[in-house]
Order: sequence, then C-alpha cells, then structure tokens
Amino acid sequence: MVLTLRINGGDHQVRADPQTPLIYVLRNELNLKGTKLACGLEQCGACAVLADGEVALSCVTESGAFVGEDIVAIEGVAARRVGGPRRGRTCLLHTLRAPP
Ligand code: FES
Repeated sequence: MVLTLRINGGDHQVRADPQTPLIYVLRNELNLKGTKLACGLEQCGACAVLADGEVALSCVTESGAFVGEDIVAIEGVAARRVGGPRRGRTCLLHTLRAPP
C-alpha cells in the first residue's frame, strides 16, 4: 500500500504496510536516521517525533496512524526552526530526546 506522509514539511509517498511502526518507515524507506530505535517499548523516547505538535512514539505507533498529520522528525527541527528562538528549539530537542 502507498502511504502519503507529511514529514518535515514535505509530502512523501512510501510503499509500506500501514501497520508498520513509523520508525521503520522513517529509517528504512526515507533514510531519516536521526530518529532512533532503542527500547521499542514506549520507555525511552529515543523514537519520538512530533505529530501535529504532539509528541508521538514512532516505535509503537503504526505509520498509517500518521496519514494526514504534520510529522516533524529530529532532522526537521532545525530546518523548520520549530520552537522559534534558539532556546525554544533546544527545549524541543529535549522533548524529542527525553522519556515521555
Ligand atoms: S524506542 Fe524507546 S520509546 Fe520508542
């Protein structure tokens, strides 16, 4: 199945099972390696992305659940200047790296 995902401000069409956790689509299909798979159990936050401004754990959330949402992976934080001034971006980086 072809999924259209909006990631870091761009639409990407990927061939993936919608039940595949988003992290595998990011890393294996889109070569976005900044999002890490660590525990895989919703414990560490290494896989966190923003989806419509909310933190989501991509290790356990199916990629199909993100269709129609604006996803920001770690690579998109600096590029999009998410969080505004430098301090805001730093806080967001912490959010994406800190345990939920
Ligand atoms: S990899 Fe640890 S919460 Fe997703």
